[in-house]
Amino acid sequence: MVYVASEGRYGGMKYNRVGKSGLFLPAISLGLWHNFGGVDSFENGRNILRKAFDLGITHFDLANNYGPPPGSAEEMLGKMMKADFAPYRDELVISTKAGYQMWEGPYGDWGSRKYLISSLDQSLKRMGLEYVDIFYSHRPDPHTPLEETMGALDQIVRQGKALYVGISNYSPTQTQEAIRILKELGTPLLIHQPRYSMFDRWIEDGLQDVLAENGVGSIVFSPMAQGLLTNKYLGGIPTDSRAAKQNTFLKKDQITENVLGKIQQLNALAIERGQSLAQMALAWVLREGRVTSALVGASKVSQLEDNVSALRNLSFTQEELTKIEDILAQN
Ligand SMILES: NC(=O)c1ccc[n+]([C@@H]2O[C@H](COP(=O)([O-])OP(=O)(O)OC[C@H]3O[C@@H](n4cnc5c(N)ncnc54)[C@H](OP(=O)(O)O)[C@@H]3O)[C@@H](O)[C@H]2O)c1
Repeated sequence: MVYVASEGRYGGMKYNRVGKSGLFLPAISLGLWHNFGGVDSFENGRNILRKAFDLGITHFDLANNYGPPPGSAEEMLGKMMKADFAPYRDELVISTKAGYQMWEGPYGDWGSRKYLISSLDQSLKRMGLEYVDIFYSHRPDPHTPLEETMGALDQIVRQGKALYVGISNYSPTQTQEAIRILKELGTPLLIHQPRYSMFDRWIEDGLQDVLAENGVGSIVFSPMAQGLLTNKYLGGIPTDSRAAKQNTFLKKDQITENVLGKIQQLNALAIERGQSLAQMALAWVLREGRVTSALVGASKVSQLEDNVSALRNLSFTQEELTKIEDILAQN
């Protein structure tokens, strides 16, 4: 059936300005790391992407290596752009990245100009796009001068292959340096993509200050700790969950008694707030307005609907915040 986007798609979403730039991102964005690869059901992925756009999620995040197999999530998005989203290209912000191992030999990994530029050319072909909205250096490369990696990002924008640039997984010091270099080159850093959730708070220790001082936005990945911060593991490990799958970064042994105890207490608090735990986890990363967008994954349409409803209550009382701190501090 021909896809026609919901007329009410902009009614229920909140859009946040990215740092000091002119760009806005939805408070909740969708990532295609899992569930959109060649091994996954195309129909399911299609339904999730359609629902996302209908809910006002205007931003889809990819990387060269998402799949499996690597590259197949971009191919999937390419099919969707052609079949469903072609009329809506200007309503979408599509990002991709390069930085992790993608092809054999010395040019398919890390942060050289050679790798970043050829990888983006491949990504654009797979997605059938003329440009991406945001292109990221996926991780810092300790062996390539930062000037080269940032120079490649600047070059990509000047070539018209990306509108904005971002970095991911860079430390506060590396970020400060990247900001300086990019500013000199005349292509300001738009956004940083770090991991952030109640279970991983490293960005509070310096990175958020660097970003705020320099007017750079942030889009945080794994805000539900890959599903741990939802009600999905409360009764054991479901067979269709990420933790039950092979070759994922969420391992069964991460779900310890201690972690489960915290999830149970956080779940009880979420219920008191009238939210699901997934919703509270998203509201928590978006609290105080320091984060531009929470970048979620989803394996089902119903998860996405649950997650977007988090926007109905993003505020916390001091008592609730203290309770969360107490739960997270338990050993
Ligand atoms: N820059 C980087 O280095 C980097 C690294 C990792 C991720 N990312 C980006 O961040 C995106 C999100 O990462 P993530 O998938 O780890 O984020 P996440 O939102 O923390 O986890 C998503 C997973 O949680 C479960 N889930 C989501 N909503 C749920 C709900 N309402 N109820 C129950 N379970 C729910 C699903 O797991 P099940 O599959 O088990 O149902 C879903 O696949 C990625 O797609 C990617 O774009 C970037």
